[in-house]
Amino acid sequence: MKLYQLTKAGFGSLQQVEGEIPAPGEYEVLVKLKAASLNYHDLVTVLGLNPKLRFPLIPLSDGCGVVEAVGSAVSRFQPGMRVATTFFQQWIDGPPTRDNLRVMTGDSVDGTLCEYMVISEQALVAAPDYLNDLEVATLPCAALTAWRSVVEEANVQRDQVVLVQGTGGVSLFALQFAKQIGAEVIITSSADEKLERASNLGADHLINYKKTPNWSKEVKRITEKRGVDLVVEVGGSGTMSHSLGSVAVGGHISVIGVLSGFADVLPVASIMALNVTLKGITVASRVQFEAMLAFMAEHQIHPVIGHQLGFDDAVPGLELLQSGQHFGKIVLDYQR
Ligand SMILES: NC(=O)c1ccc[n+]([C@@H]2O[C@H](COP(=O)([O-])OP(=O)(O)OC[C@H]3O[C@@H](n4cnc5c(N)ncnc54)[C@H](OP(=O)(O)O)[C@@H]3O)[C@@H](O)[C@H]2O)c1
Repeated sequence: MKLYQLTKAGFGSLQQVEGEIPAPGEYEVLVKLKAASLNYHDLVTVLGLNPKLRFPLIPLSDGCGVVEAVGSAVSRFQPGMRVATTFFQQWIDGPPTRDNLRVMTGDSVDGTLCEYMVISEQALVAAPDYLNDLEVATLPCAALTAWRSVVEEANVQRDQVVLVQGTGGVSLFALQFAKQIGAEVIITSSADEKLERASNLGADHLINYKKTPNWSKEVKRITEKRGVDLVVEVGGSGTMSHSLGSVAVGGHISVIGVLSGFADVLPVASIMALNVTLKGITVASRVQFEAMLAFMAEHQIHPVIGHQLGFDDAVPGLELLQSGQHFGKIVLDYQR
């Protein structure tokens, strides 16, 4: 089978090689992968920004495939079933713990950038029939993170106001979930053309953060000084002060991303004065994944796929992600 190996940090060290198709252990499943999607986390991994990485590694957390074979004790899946991978392989239910956050697909263990993978039956979910393989492959990281932010943590209600930053994977899923609930959505982006596409997805208010660098003022104008109920904060240190400038008293900020950096200066006075809830988020559990799938199926929500590439295009795909030119999800179609 074909697989990619990352032997050290950098795009140049991500090589396609041939390997043996692995055999599943007692509680494991052999999955023939059909598609994968790219996340910012994969870029961070391939560029070697995580000092704990062990090489060689098969990267990528997100995949959709078909069960090819199962171990003798497997009870959740049978050959022929379509599945998606999970990000935290051991986080089944309940709150995050040190233990259940340990095993990360395409990070602390091998991921989905390969034709076949062996994985614990506990680390898979059944794929919904109404979505194709490419759509299913977008869900394990970005969609589930957005779901946890909007639904599980902030419990956004109809007529509340949500702010999403940029038009990448997490943000567009957050936009779709918030709109489905009936909330009002303000979206920021670097480009007017992307804002127009976000408007077609239902975004109510559009802010170009390049043209309006002090965009929290615009958020306050739109919300008549009140601020928003939830900020889906993916920018990190470069956007946090604007997020605090945008949030309502008693509002919620989901601390998710680091697109503009990791530097940590905590604006204690603003956090206190706003009585804001800052909630750190690392994806979610498998049970939350299944709840999200049920909601998506009920409302027939389709992921926004901006770019479809092939298995051989992993490096150009990651370069596209790094450029920030993309819109929504970038997927690799292994059938192409
Ligand atoms: N904690 C978790 O569990 C978790 C899970 C998933 C992702 N994340 C993190 O969340 C972030 C987004 O991930 P993703 O996979 O959705 O990324 P992505 O698909 O690569 O989205 C990136 C997009 O964000 C926008 N952006 C870039 N810099 C920005 C800035 N300074 N302010 C506002 N928007 C900016 C750009 O869109 P425009 O051109 O439209 O501005 C860019 O295309 C990353 O930092 C990632 O590591 C965390």
